[in-house]
Amino acid sequence: MCGIVGYVGGRPALDVVVEGLARLEYRGYDSAGVAVLADGKLATAKRAGKLVNLRGALEEEPPPEGTLGMGHTRWATHGAPNDRNAHPHVDCTGSVAVIHNGIIENFAELRAELEEGGHRLLSDTDTEAVAHLLEDEVKAGGGLVEAMRRVCGRLEGAFTLVAVHTGDPDLVVGARRNSPLVVGVGEGENFLASDVAAFIAHTRDAIELGQDQIVELRADGVTVTDFEGRPADVKEYHVDWDVSAAEKGGFDYFMLKEIAEQPRAVADTLLGRIGTDGRLHLDEMRIPDRELREVDKIIIVACGTSYHAGLIAKYAIEHWAGLPCEVELASEFRYRDPILSPTTLVIAISQSGETMDALMAVRHAREQKAKLLGICNVNGSTLPRECDGVLYTHAGPEIAVASTKAFLTQLVAVYLIALYIAQVRGTKWGDEVFAMVQLLERMPEKVEKVLETMEPVRELARSLSNERCVLFLGRHVGFPVALEGALKLKELAYMHAEGFAAGELKHGPIALIEEGLPVVVVVPPRAREVLHDKIVSNIQEIRARGARTIVIAEDGDESVEPYADTLIAVPAVPTLLQPLVTTVPLQVFACELATAKGHDVDQPRNLAKSVTVE
Ligand code: AGP
Repeated sequence: MCGIVGYVGGRPALDVVVEGLARLEYRGYDSAGVAVLADGKLATAKRAGKLVNLRGALEEEPPPEGTLGMGHTRWATHGAPNDRNAHPHVDCTGSVAVIHNGIIENFAELRAELEEGGHRLLSDTDTEAVAHLLEDEVKAGGGLVEAMRRVCGRLEGAFTLVAVHTGDPDLVVGARRNSPLVVGVGEGENFLASDVAAFIAHTRDAIELGQDQIVELRADGVTVTDFEGRPADVKEYHVDWDVSAAEKGGFDYFMLKEIAEQPRAVADTLLGRIGTDGRLHLDEMRIPDRELREVDKIIIVACGTSYHAGLIAKYAIEHWAGLPCEVELASEFRYRDPILSPTTLVIAISQSGETMDALMAVRHAREQKAKLLGICNVNGSTLPRECDGVLYTHAGPEIAVASTKAFLTQLVAVYLIALYIAQVRGTKWGDEVFAMVQLLERMPEKVEKVLETMEPVRELARSLSNERCVLFLGRHVGFPVALEGALKLKELAYMHAEGFAAGELKHGPIALIEEGLPVVVVVPPRAREVLHDKIVSNIQEIRARGARTIVIAEDGDESVEPYADTLIAVPAVPTLLQPLVTTVPLQVFACELATAKGHDVDQPRNLAKSVTVE
């Protein structure tokens, strides 16, 4: 998820663009760059690191003053965050520049075709291929708009593109598929951006672009067409948010925005990893299949929410890949004497890639000669550099301290790894892997469906804001979901909350049950009869002792209705994938309850987004 700004009008473009990027820096900040068109020439500047580095470069070598330009803050998905990979990217002639947000799935074949055609590509990014494709299409005639139209017809994946060409110095062209782009309509000037925060200081009149649309931006007007060249219907609106709300996409908190982004984040984490043949392609992990076949044990190390993702991974790995899998708190692992060998695969899960406990666990495993794989959300962070391979989640920047979209994308990553190992080791037939992959591809819409039904959960949360304690129960992959729900409530509402394996109730915790005590129960799909029936019995046991039962179960599960004081229905999905839908109500519940208590949901007391100390 990157920040994009485009401008054409009467003012110095550089000022408008850099100021707009500053408003978007929360969207991604591992590098930044600008392009300005002046006197028929294209001037670009780009720097790794935060925007302040680019500002310094622009002060040292100010580009010529022009009234047309564009800029980009990067959240790297392909290619390390360095100057070379920063956007904008230009073609061989230096007359076309392009910036991009999203993932172009077929970039490898496009790059190969371009290099065979004599193009020299200098970066490791998927984006640079677009600059050279535009170069060829501009040469073929029709100008930048038609060139963009033809290029978009060749791209697969998610993309917002903005491009300029010296051959038409009054024109900025944008295109979007599965990635945001909005137009700001001014007086004698017009804007393009990833979201309105970039331009509402100048205009509050906006146009939301739709799927597969192309926008031609000139100082005196805006034209929107579809990829086939037909005029497109567009939605004009007036933005009444303040700048701070705009940075949060109109939400009161980044956490609410990030909860809402989960369908997109899950979809983006799947992008480019499923072949048209239905087989998984994870060579980006850089661990050869032969070495994966030699693995005889997997140990997962992580902290907090990431640890809960590891607990869910265990069920998937053992069921699909047929390998023994241990899950350890990173802070405990490094003080153990784990029995590791070169055929042990240690998987470290960390959103930030900077959690010291996780890094120290990785170093401990390295000393024991284990093979190391990272699952991380931040390209260029420390964890990927210390592992043999990495599988990035594509959640985009997660600003709120309480992890939400990163967690769901960690689940997608561990599912992909477990299925890939099963594919490589042959513990699951190709058609079995394909069938599960197809179900995974439908999860974004399932998560979206959950998000559409959360109002009763918010009402429930507000009604419980004076409670002292909430318990969470689950079985199988529902147990780590119960732990995650309890953690969210602890870190946001500062309430005592505890997650239990429901089977453990009778071994002690049931003594906690008293009249009116809220207990959230995550119920497995009915297809898992044994598990399902046992947890229905657990619900009856706690209800008989006065608990207020809040039951999360799949749509149509009538068996739990007589014992649920509150029933939260989620879409029916396969057992192992159920955490993707059952976690979301618990995120919303904790966020709403904390809000009702007047807490700062994005910055809870005593916590930091990344715990870089042991
Ligand atoms: C989760 O909401 C917390 N922010 C915390 O438990 C977090 O998951 C943990 O600190 C691990 O962080 P990491 O994923 O960046 O390593």
